[in-house]
Amino acid sequence: MVIGVLKEPEFEKRVSILPEAVKTLKKLKADIVIEKGAGERAFASDKEYTEAGAELLGIGEVIKRADVLLSINIPDDDSLKSLKKGQIVISVFNPLGEEMSVRSLLQSEQTYFSMDLIPRTTRGQAMDILSSMATISGYKAVLDAAMHLPNFFPMFMTAAGTIRPAKILILGAGVAGLQAIATGRKLGGVVEAFDVRSAVKEQVESLGGKFVEVEGAVEDAAAGGYAVEQTEEFKAKQKQLIHDHAAKSNVIICTAQIPGRKAPVLIEKTTVEAMKPGSVIIDLAASTGGNCELTENAKIVVKHGVTIVGKSDYPSDMPNDASRMYGNNLVNFLKLLIDENGGLKLDFEDEIVRGTCMIHEKQLVNERLQQLYG
Ligand code: NAI
Repeated sequence: MVIGVLKEPEFEKRVSILPEAVKTLKKLKADIVIEKGAGERAFASDKEYTEAGAELLGIGEVIKRADVLLSINIPDDDSLKSLKKGQIVISVFNPLGEEMSVRSLLQSEQTYFSMDLIPRTTRGQAMDILSSMATISGYKAVLDAAMHLPNFFPMFMTAAGTIRPAKILILGAGVAGLQAIATGRKLGGVVEAFDVRSAVKEQVESLGGKFVEVEGAVEDAAAGGYAVEQTEEFKAKQKQLIHDHAAKSNVIICTAQIPGRKAPVLIEKTTVEAMKPGSVIIDLAASTGGNCELTENAKIVVKHGVTIVGKSDYPSDMPNDASRMYGNNLVNFLKLLIDENGGLKLDFEDEIVRGTCMIHEKQLVNERLQQLYG
């Protein structure tokens, strides 16, 4: 089986596999073809890929030769149009959020896997790109906040007076939020966190954060550990409590998301107005609408003296480790598709293969997509 790696678009610094992952795939008897320059922005040279055993080619040849194509961003229209019948594409299609990508691909003759659909089960953990990328986002968001904040994070007792520690409020204690709590604490900040899932209270506290609880949250075991839409009464109570805590915070890291939906607005304009000038909001939910009403996606704006960073692509800013983690997840997933002779096997009886597959033979495979798109 030949695995092809596409170069990502200009705005993306990551690459789907690093040379070290090429070596692992070679051991599994797969051949690897890589688009020239694919790893440059992730600090992996063509030479390193060649030394690892890959063949470097132009994009046309990569598509022609590959049985399985890898990318992080959805391949461009020209690439999609030039795919061969039966070819497999493994990328991040965001099918729960972007209906168009699913509907248009349903007409084509390829099989599409979307890495953001990896089931969030114990077995799926080693392939879970959402978790690995969220880990980077949570970490980077706090470092970015520290750079924008006109104050220290830690407490200092100096001859020039006592510096009080920064107060950091984390909205959403999923993977990104928990990493943000850990990073904020390591930098010496005082951290508190909100989430609608009461199950995370213990995790927040074990990382040294304070859990701020709003009673009456709707939780749904059938949602697989994800948050679900809340009642209007709960939302009003939550907004008030966030307002009160935000007014005392120096930094807010927003990570609250609901898969396939617009992010909940948790910080309104009036809350931003009540914050201390110089405070910083990092909104990781910016690409799905933002948790802050004043967030502008992919922009840094200053409103009412508060710096609001609308940024959902932190993993691309740490491209080497992000590619390493993405690549490791991918290799673990590919192991399910490679037989002992290096050939391709598609076992839809396997819950991870079935759960991650978006489209096969012009049919939706993942159950949630079937429900969503009928
Ligand atoms: P996410 O990125 O979908 O959302 C981030 C956080 O925002 C979540 O904790 C969510 O509860 C919270 N949130 C949503 N609406 C909110 C609101 N209105 N107010 C406050 N908070 C709100 O979440 P992520 O990080 O992808 O994790 C989702 C779940 O998946 C978690 O239960 C996590 O433990 C689980 N998980 C399981 C894995 C596995 O077993 N393989 C791996 C990673 C995560």
